[in-house]
Amino acid sequence: MGGLSKKSYTIKNILKQRADQALVLDAGNLLFKNTAISDSQELITAAGIMEIYKDMAYDAVAVGPYDLAAGLAFLQETQIKGFPWLSANIVDEQNNPIFLPSKKVERAGLKIGLVGLSDREIPTTSGIKVIDWEKALAEQLVIIGNTCDLIVVLTSLPDQDNAELMRLFPQVHILLTANRAHGKIMPRVVNNTLVTQTNSQGKYLGVLDVDWQASRAWEKNVAQEMLTLQDRLGVLGRQILRAERMSNRSVAAEAQLQAFRQERETLLQTIKDAETKMAEAELQENVFNSFKSSFIALKTEVPDDPQVAERVSNIKEQVNNSNKQMLTGSRTLTQENQNGEKERLGGFAGSARCSSCHVAQAEFWSSTGHAVAFQSLVQQSQGFNLDCLPCHVTHGVKDMLKDAKKMVKLAGLPPEMRGVGCESCHGSGENHASNPNLVNQERKVGESVCLQCHTEERSPSFSFLSALSQVSCPK
Ligand code: HEC
Ligand code: HEC
Ligand code: HEC
Ligand code: HEC
Repeated sequence: MGGLSKKSYTIKNILKQRADQALVLDAGNLLFKNTAISDSQELITAAGIMEIYKDMAYDAVAVGPYDLAAGLAFLQETQIKGFPWLSANIVDEQNNPIFLPSKKVERAGLKIGLVGLSDREIPTTSGIKVIDWEKALAEQLVIIGNTCDLIVVLTSLPDQDNAELMRLFPQVHILLTANRAHGKIMPRVVNNTLVTQTNSQGKYLGVLDVDWQASRAWEKNVAQEMLTLQDRLGVLGRQILRAERMSNRSVAAEAQLQAFRQERETLLQTIKDAETKMAEAELQENVFNSFKSSFIALKTEVPDDPQVAERVSNIKEQVNNSNKQMLTGSRTLTQENQNGEKERLGGFAGSARCSSCHVAQAEFWSSTGHAVAFQSLVQQSQGFNLDCLPCHVTHGVKDMLKDAKKMVKLAGLPPEMRGVGCESCHGSGENHASNPNLVNQERKVGESVCLQCHTEERSPSFSFLSALSQVSCPK
């Protein structure tokens, strides 16, 4: 969510540079991380994301399976308010489309047809069916096809279906995919279709500039192909070096070396051909439709759209208040703790107990930011936000992120488990604290421990060795 204000800033900028002759599209799966949601935090966040997307002037967003995690009514409500959902193959029990199946827009004098296709594997919601995408797409192409210069399909279908789509429907010119199994995919031309994808986690914005005339075909992106070939050549070179060292050891190793050398011969020829093609393409540049693409990383340096930043912060506050209400309800988690449920603490003793024996280390630790990491959340009214807690309290980060129920418990941890405590680095230590002479505690703390929290996103300038010297406990 944090990236939204940077995304909005960037989109506004791009629209301005292109005198509003651009389309803003998303192939789906933008709302939820799972296909079933577990708490109101996710609902509030999703509703907020949709409001912000609407104001970012999106032209179309295809419905992905993850978007249906909160049920159909949730999306329909926003559709009524004008959110541009698109899906040609999600229908009701009478086979009528539930969302807009396709739409036509005009940009830079071109009539552009947009069609949305959703993956079959949607959560089971009553009153909703997914029909054959082939049939749904064929129907839409009849409706919009003849009157459009450019056809764009937004899809969350699996790879095989997308491949089939490009084989069966060469009249689709651009295919934008949303497949969670992949990150960003450089654009490439398959048959007559340009296919590409932007990373689904919102860390990048994909920009595709297209020079298009309906009568022409796509240029093959030879330059991109060349990079892939040269990459392979590099890898092969290293494989050959290694194989040469092994070759006298066995017949199989010798055969492997020969196979690598053979592949290199073929590859060198392919590269030569590609070079010729590139030279030719340069001579007849205007015969083909061309495209340029880039992925803009929405990093810390990218400015924020102040209005969106403010809305994101309002949504976070809403989330915090809602969780607070829920957790301070009839049965607080802290009370549960006070009943002495050791097991619920999952083998953790809490920093207070460690400190009672390791006084010097505890004194040092208290002077680091880790000791007050929970207070940092509270200062921003985020002490109940489940998106923040895993890295600002003492618990195993990795298994938390997989388990929504455990995440909820993080919001009710007792004070000695708040902040980045001893056990965040030394591992859970209930057994050691009860039996210090029998059970050793992990003394060495490796980089992987830190990187669970000091991620690229949250701690972009993190460097292990210098950071370690700031937080290593004294002897
Ligand atoms: C009852 C006292 C006591 C408590 C409570 C306690 N420890 Fe220890 N800890 C010890 C003793 C004793 C040693 C062994 C010291 C030695 O051999 O130098 C030790 C050793 C360690 C070591 C060093 C291990 C090594 O290989 O040198 C670490 C790290 C450590 N404890 C962390 C913790 C953490 C984290 C907690 C809280 C979960 C904790 N301790 C709770 C008494 C305690
Ligand atoms: C459980 C999550 C977590 C782990 C594990 C973790 N950190 Fe941190 N770290 C944080 C948070 C959160 C902050 C910010 C604390 C604040 O100021 O609120 C922080 C702050 C810091 C700071 C800023 C210094 C300061 O005193 O304010 C340094 C340096 C640092 N961490 C180094 C490390 C190193 C090195 C490791 C591994 C040995 C590590 N951290 C492990 C979450 C973690
Ligand atoms: C993946 C782990 C992680 C998550 C999730 C996380 N943080 Fe942090 N946070 C950190 C780390 C690591 C630091 C220390 C950053 C540094 O100094 O490099 C930090 C620092 C902070 C700081 C103090 C330093 C500063 O930059 O102002 C605040 C405040 C903070 N985080 C708030 C939040 C809020 C609010 C959320 C949830 C919306 C959140 N964090 C989610 C890991 C995390
Ligand atoms: C950010 C990670 C981090 C946190 C949090 C942390 N430690 Fe450490 N601790 C270290 C590192 C790193 C060392 C040094 C390990 C080494 O020497 O290789 C260390 C060393 C120790 C040692 C061994 C000292 C010796 O004799 O060499 C003890 C005991 C210890 N810590 C206890 C604690 C206690 C108790 C707390 C909480 C009050 C705590 N640590 C919090 C990272 C951490």
